[in-house]
Amino acid sequence: MVEILETIRASISSGLKGEVRIPGDKSISHRALILGSLTIGETTVDGLLDSEDVLSTANAICALGAKVDIKRPGICTIKGVGVGGFKEPDNIIDCGNSGTSARLLLGAVSSNPIKVTFTGDGSLRKRPMDRVVVPLTKFGATFSCNFGNKLPINVVGSDQSIPIRYELPVPSAQVKSAILLAGLNARGRTTVVEREDTRDHTEKMLKAFGANVIIDKKEQFSEISVDGFPRLKPVRINVPGDISSASFPIAAACMVPGSEISIRHVGINPLRDGFIDTLVEMGAKIKVMNRQHNAGELIADIKVTYSPHLKGLEVPAGRAARMIDEYPILSMVAATANGPTIMKGIRELRYKESDRIESIEKGLQDSGIDVTASEDTLIVNGSGQKSIKGGCQINAYNDHRIAMSFTCLGLASEKAIQINGANSIHTSFPNFVDLMHSIGACITISKNKA
Ligand code: S3P
Repeated sequence: MVEILETIRASISSGLKGEVRIPGDKSISHRALILGSLTIGETTVDGLLDSEDVLSTANAICALGAKVDIKRPGICTIKGVGVGGFKEPDNIIDCGNSGTSARLLLGAVSSNPIKVTFTGDGSLRKRPMDRVVVPLTKFGATFSCNFGNKLPINVVGSDQSIPIRYELPVPSAQVKSAILLAGLNARGRTTVVEREDTRDHTEKMLKAFGANVIIDKKEQFSEISVDGFPRLKPVRINVPGDISSASFPIAAACMVPGSEISIRHVGINPLRDGFIDTLVEMGAKIKVMNRQHNAGELIADIKVTYSPHLKGLEVPAGRAARMIDEYPILSMVAATANGPTIMKGIRELRYKESDRIESIEKGLQDSGIDVTASEDTLIVNGSGQKSIKGGCQINAYNDHRIAMSFTCLGLASEKAIQINGANSIHTSFPNFVDLMHSIGACITISKNKA
């Protein structure tokens, strides 16, 4: 197969305008597929994200015995096999670029008595898996893998899984979810202890499917428990727009003079909305309107107006879990703000699709911005009234959020920014370029053979 390399060129734009809808939430889409596969009966998902990462999960659950039928774009049904009903797949399961697929599925299969091999692309094979392998081993599953617990990993699931109690050493919704999914096929109550709250889509959705989930919030930590062997019943899941994807047009509208955009039907789960709070503290003109509950998730419409007087600030470490995927795009906004923005407690960014602290640091330096990084902190000294130079080429390091972030910066830079290796955008937001065109962004995309 000939590999095609996509290159984006983002140039100064004037007045982004319009009303858009963002594709479905990636985290919720993965969970809807996995929980649908553990249900007896037919689950319907409305608004499923149609992206490469979600397709990796869909292919995986099919290999494990479920049936996924995409009726029309965004609407799909899943015929599940029930808790404990996964069959041994005929082939290796390839999770592509998707850490969520790999970690959640490792959890889901590890309490089933089957052998499965998981792998992924070059980026995913470098990411740490010991964070799930360690707790899942306690259920009785065995894992064999290369040095450092990285993919490819062979799992032999346990047929007599023992429920566990596990305190997360790093705040991670993926690890929490892997453990809760494994706990579904363990005899008794599995408990995850979190010192910092992380996105709770798995807990919410497990409840919607009929599992007994108990959440006990103490002063210093929370305990999230699930009882094993539930009979999950099919439900209809409505997937809201992904706030992490929405962060790109939101940031672009803040940075591009004359902009005014509205984004409809975005998920604003309180454990995901740290980016909005941070922008508002920086002085961004953002209105969150029409809040309503939809199947346990909070959704709203967001209006954003060009915000010329943004000021840098300190983003506390305690906020990191609520906006972990938004630091790349926040760094772009910080580059246009007055004064330094200090982002603390963000070491986890080093283990994402790329080492995001390094990717942001290099890209911003190339764009003419003063930036310093340490192991877990990033300081961006905003250019304030001076414009961003741009006129550079950025390596996206096969990381969708780095590619989209620098595209947005290019819209507010003096000279165009070229983003090499923008293919990764297909993993989470395939219509990103079209959507940005629809609000007036000056972006061109070229495709060349590798
Ligand atoms: C996700 C959790 C986060 C996030 C990722 C999606 C999820 O990862 O960065 O994009 O769907 O649970 P961690 O759990 O590793 O923080």
